[in-house]
Amino acid sequence: MTAARIAPRKILLINGHPDPHPDRLCSALASAYAEGAQAAGHHVRRIEVGGLALPPITSQAAFMAPSSPEVAELQAAVREADHLVLIYPLWLGAPPAVLKAFLEQVFRYGLALAAPGEAKGVKGLLAGRSARVVVTMGMPGFIFRLVFFAHGLKCVSRGLLWVSGYRPVREMALGPVESPDPARRLRWIARLRSLGAEAA
Ligand SMILES: Cc1cc2nc3c(=O)[nH]c(=O)nc-3n(C[C@H](O)[C@H](O)[C@H](O)COP(=O)(O)O)c2cc1C
Repeated sequence: MTAARIAPRKILLINGHPDPHPDRLCSALASAYAEGAQAAGHHVRRIEVGGLALPPITSQAAFMAPSSPEVAELQAAVREADHLVLIYPLWLGAPPAVLKAFLEQVFRYGLALAAPGEAKGVKGLLAGRSARVVVTMGMPGFIFRLVFFAHGLKCVSRGLLWVSGYRPVREMALGPVESPDPARRLRWIARLRSLGAEAA
């Protein structure tokens, strides 16, 4: 292990792919980030959303209700981390449903936002933390940004993390994943490894 160039950070690394198989690009990117971070002395906790099978929230009452012990433990991990990294594939222009269910369960009132009536307006409760969102996709990243306004990324980076108080929230849109250029995939993996070393 080499010494961290910056103070060691507590990183929560979430692989949001429903299929946690190591052959998936998202899994490889998460592993590269973790390797870089750990080699630089940062503490990494990794969550595989595909292994959890959390159900989606189906009512306002369920969203307001106390969390299950499993969800409460995941919420504690979010609170404890000073940097959150979320990696997922774009599915039908959005985060996969399994990841959406995870986010609905974990980022409830009381963790991410003050419940209605408990604060004036919208009050994010996770200030003092930073985040990075990495989304992989079949289309070229520039088409995703220019034609689709990066909607499937912004809904998480702005609509959830920024609103919850994370600053900065950094973004990466990686595509096309099925590129005929295999070096492109290796460059992405190397980039994630160096970002892990910087805990950025
Ligand atoms: C169910 C499904 C829906 C998809 N929808 C989109 C999409 O809307 N736009 C897109 O560019 N790629 C789409 N893709 C391609 C995935 O984003 C791509 O396969 C993934 O990012 C590759 O990462 P992985 O190797 O970790 O699975 C879709 C793939 C699947 C399986």
